[in-house]
Amino acid sequence: MNRIFSGIQPTGNLHLGNYLGAIRNWVALQHDYDCIFCIVDLHALTQPQNPDELRQATREVTAAYIAAGIDPECCIIFNQSTISAHAELAWLLGCLTPLGWLNRMTQFKEKAGKQRENAGLGLYAYPVLMAADILLYKATHVPVGEDQKQHVELARDIAGAFNRRYERDFFPLPEPQIFGEATRVMSLRDGTKKMSKSDTSDYSRINMTDDADTIALKIRRAKTDPEPLPDMLSALEQRPEADNLVSIYAALSDMSREAALARFAGANFSTFKEALSGLSVDVLGRIGGEMRRLMADPGHIDRVLRQGAERAAAIAIPVLHEVQDITGLLRP
Ligand code: AMP
Ligand code: TRP
Repeated sequence: MNRIFSGIQPTGNLHLGNYLGAIRNWVALQHDYDCIFCIVDLHALTQPQNPDELRQATREVTAAYIAAGIDPECCIIFNQSTISAHAELAWLLGCLTPLGWLNRMTQFKEKAGKQRENAGLGLYAYPVLMAADILLYKATHVPVGEDQKQHVELARDIAGAFNRRYERDFFPLPEPQIFGEATRVMSLRDGTKKMSKSDTSDYSRINMTDDADTIALKIRRAKTDPEPLPDMLSALEQRPEADNLVSIYAALSDMSREAALARFAGANFSTFKEALSGLSVDVLGRIGGEMRRLMADPGHIDRVLRQGAERAAAIAIPVLHEVQDITGLLRP
């Protein structure tokens, strides 16, 4: 069976973009693939983290996976740092990765900012660790939001480099899977910026744990323009905020953007926002409530993660051993 690997960083503020760009698609795929969903805590450490908050956020992402409908009995759910083979394989793959490939990564450029010299080695090597995550399980498919496509393509290139260097078809070449009408959910305050956990304004995003009133308030305050909604998608091209809200509506209601727009053509934003807010509360309210219920029992979450780690290790460790044998590392 084809295998899926994907993950989210436990860096707080899980939002609608994480849900529509990633988690929701995983739920839909879980019975058609052998699935491994990771909480990538080692990736979170590429930026400064408070230790207690990191532990809390790791449990929260786990709760979000389960609350959104991922079944921990059929899928493997675990946190990355419990399997040290991720870091070991990242080293071995890093030795095969040309700096030129890493220098093309747009996320590094964005996150490092102008002070490139002060960025950590971990932030630079981040995509190599991500390649290790995927290849350690010989995953064939990687469902992610649009922003991660370049990293999955790099993982593919690294897999190819390994296979060529050792002249065998060892790693399958993983493919990015990008689904739905909202593969890149934008900020509610600025339709040209992606919705992000780290935006300083909480009004820029809808968090998965926001209650109904907060969701409604954020949608009411979302930036728009004075025109009513058009009847053609092409008319949204110069209207990024309107475009974003229509895409969110379409994704949440499982319809195409065309159909969503047809429903609201000519309507003003107050009508549309009210409908969007009702829909968001319907979908996210239930998940947020379930997350809070799960978070009240951290012992249960930790059991899910421990059991997931055992199952993950049973796949990962034999693959790491094979890689060690292929590369000539002696296992006396
Ligand atoms: P991160 O929050 O960076 O750990 O991202 C976890 C997953 O959510 C990845 O698959 C991302 O591509 C996806 N994601 C993050 N932000 C967005 C967004 N604004 N729109 C769509 N997908 C997103
Ligand atoms: N880099 C991804 C993100 O920020 C998270 C991630 C780490 C990941 N390892 C992965 C996603 C492996 C898919 C597969 O969104």
